[in-house]
Amino acid sequence: MKSLDVVCIGVVLLDLPVGPVDPQIFHHETTMVDKIRLTTGGDAFNESVILSRLGKKTGLIGHIGRDIAGEMIIKRCIEEGICYDGLFLDPEGETRINIVLIDPEGQRKFLKTQNQVSRSFLPEDIDYELIKRARAVSLASIFSSKLRNTDTIFKIVQTAREHQIITFADMVPMTGGEGMADLKGILPYLDYFLPNFEEARMLTGENEPDQMADSLLQNGVRNVIIKLGKDGCLIKNKKERHLLQAFPAKAIDTTGAGDNFVAAFIASILDGNNLRDSGDFANAAAALSTEAAGAVEAVKNKNQIEAYRVKNRGIIITR
Ligand SMILES: Nc1ncnc2c1ncn2[C@@H]1O[C@H](COP(=O)(O)OP(=O)(O)OP(=O)(O)O)[C@@H](O)[C@H]1O
Ligand SMILES: [Mg+2]
Repeated sequence: MKSLDVVCIGVVLLDLPVGPVDPQIFHHETTMVDKIRLTTGGDAFNESVILSRLGKKTGLIGHIGRDIAGEMIIKRCIEEGICYDGLFLDPEGETRINIVLIDPEGQRKFLKTQNQVSRSFLPEDIDYELIKRARAVSLASIFSSKLRNTDTIFKIVQTAREHQIITFADMVPMTGGEGMADLKGILPYLDYFLPNFEEARMLTGENEPDQMADSLLQNGVRNVIIKLGKDGCLIKNKKERHLLQAFPAKAIDTTGAGDNFVAAFIASILDGNNLRDSGDFANAAAALSTEAAGAVEAVKNKNQIEAYRVKNRGIIITR
């Protein structure tokens, strides 16, 4: 019997959104803003929070410093019921804090640091015993700062395959010239791959979601889920195809919509639901997540998503 449902691996950090910020700030001694907040973030942290709220026993593998910011992250893990045994507390690094400057039009600009804590995980950094305790593992974002080393990713998915652990993976756009060739050995180990439209386009060189999915399936992925923003998602495997419309959200902040989607999708698959139902549930969770500011402010539990689904019943198109 497994003690965890899923382990999320990836970026864990604090976000410091500030706004609205006048672009002329450096010409003044002091500038007043409406809000300066401090919130937890990072793809793996966001996924863990939502999975835990959806009733899944969730472990987190991330990298933080032994500092006040790191203590805050651990406190949030405790509050959300996330197992943080897999957090690597680095005595030599500082927990990442992203400063998010929001201009008067709502556009965001980021200030980030590059340090020991933001470097890619090496194969030996990962707690494989924690992964073996779980039914599923989620690579929160392939090509993110923490998951750039393909040897590390390969060792994770290989361990998962050896122990019949289901693999899920999201990604971020490549910024270092990486491409399909870098993932050749990894894709056949992915049970569910969930890139967004732009990422799938960059990776496959195709322009249509169906062709993108076909290319990924040919490269060995078992199930491809392409997130299409306000157009919902396309799910495809060798036998099935589902184009699922998004829910009509009153979107005010789409930050973390992808993380909410992936977490809800994983929770639904682990509950034994089929691809179409899981995609629709994920569309609902992600749409709901856009209706509040912040990545994990809106989604609280499964019943809330089910109620949202009933209220805004999305039209499901299958062709
Ligand atoms: N405006 C919107 N209205 C309704 N649903 C939305 C909207 N934007 C996003 N979604 C939902 O969120 C999901 C994920 O969004 P998107 O395709 O932008 O993924 P992503 O780019 O990985 O997100 P992120 O920017 O968080 O990484 C979509 O598949 C859809 O279900
Ligand atoms: Mg994304």
